[in-house]
Amino acid sequence: MDNFVIHGGRTVNGEVKISGSKNAALPILAATMLTRDKCEIKNIPELMDIKSAFELLNYLGKKCFFGFNTFTVHEASALKHHAPYDLVRKMRASMLVAGPLLARYKKVRFSLPGGCIIGVRPIDIHLEAFKKLGAEVSYEKGDVIMTAARLKPARVKFRFPSVGATENLMMCASLIKGITTLENCAREPEISDLARALRKMGAGVEGEGSSVIKISGVKMLKGLKYEVMPDRIETGTFMLAAAAAGGALKLTNTNIALVEPLARALTRAGVRVFGEKNTITVISSGARPKPVDIITEPHPGFPTDLQAPWMAFMARAKGVCEVNEEIFENRFMHAAELMRMGADITVLERKAVIRGVERLLGAPVMASDIRAGAALIVAAAAAKGMTVIRRVYHIDRGYQKIEDKLRLAGVKITRVKA
Ligand code: EPZ
Repeated sequence: MDNFVIHGGRTVNGEVKISGSKNAALPILAATMLTRDKCEIKNIPELMDIKSAFELLNYLGKKCFFGFNTFTVHEASALKHHAPYDLVRKMRASMLVAGPLLARYKKVRFSLPGGCIIGVRPIDIHLEAFKKLGAEVSYEKGDVIMTAARLKPARVKFRFPSVGATENLMMCASLIKGITTLENCAREPEISDLARALRKMGAGVEGEGSSVIKISGVKMLKGLKYEVMPDRIETGTFMLAAAAAGGALKLTNTNIALVEPLARALTRAGVRVFGEKNTITVISSGARPKPVDIITEPHPGFPTDLQAPWMAFMARAKGVCEVNEEIFENRFMHAAELMRMGADITVLERKAVIRGVERLLGAPVMASDIRAGAALIVAAAAAKGMTVIRRVYHIDRGYQKIEDKLRLAGVKITRVKA
């Protein structure tokens, strides 16, 4: 397992190109299961999670080629419709093939995705919705089995705006003739990217970005040529690294509209943020920021995936602030690691109270999930002295060549084999 060694206390400057969005790419790659035609998807980031998607699609019968950030998918044979445990356990998003396979074959078997460190992560919202479309759901040896004599259009209201459930149902409904109405949908930008892709494949999709999405399904969907949107969480992570360490950082191939809640919070904390066309510039003195409370919420609220890096930034605030994590039940694992670097954080269930300190100090720390790992990078860049981050494989799941990009921005970082 690799470690990152970071010598902090240097400013973060220069220009960094943002990669394509992992959380937009994964559902769109799953959507290629809806058609037997060739698909070509560009701006796909080179990440461990994309590699897992690659393995799963190949296992299910697609022929995938991945190079130069382009993913090409052909249909080699009739698809398998069982996503096995050893593939699903590596990445929860594997269950996004459930909707497409159910729609095409009226049956699908997939391993119940286990929970992860940030929460139990049940899939009840997905399954309740599939039942509304006519699916029978049963369980066997840790697998979920869904079958349907016939799938029918329906009106489905999610009890919570689940991103994955919204995406799964949009894809399934795209192959069901008639109008399916999804209510209380997730409104994340990645949902809109999937909607654009499904429309290009021939499905009628309207309302994405709002809480009601109508899908007019068709009998057959055609192949797809598509370019995935920029990664707004990578964008926010680099914005927070510059804000915490100080400097002037320009991010290209991204868009400030994707990170509005963060841009507003950074401005309130005293950091200057400018967006024009496809670039964002962050200018920070590196002085201790003003304390700003945040609550994570479904989009358009503050994204839960930026909560950990935000906490790393607030660790040096000039005062006390609160972070409320309303999406996942256990997403403060990074707090204990930040405290090893001198942060003063008290966790009370879904609330963390941060008493800003003058200085963070480098220390040996451990990443527990993708975004907790990102938080440790933000803290290490701003800290005095050397930080060693262990279990970097978590970070590699969600950030393409992050050490190369950070080095380009002036951060003293090396990847060492442990
Ligand atoms: C997506 O996960 C993202 N992953 C997550 O990013 C992100 O944190 C999350 O949305 C919230 O924005 C991808 O897009 C691949 P949810 P997803 O279904 O779809 C509960 C990252 O770091 N829930 O919106 O799994 C669930 O337990 C990852 O890139 C149910 O109770 O998120 C959670 O508390 C982490 N039942 C909340 O809803 C269900 O059936 C939000 O989950 C489904 C979800």
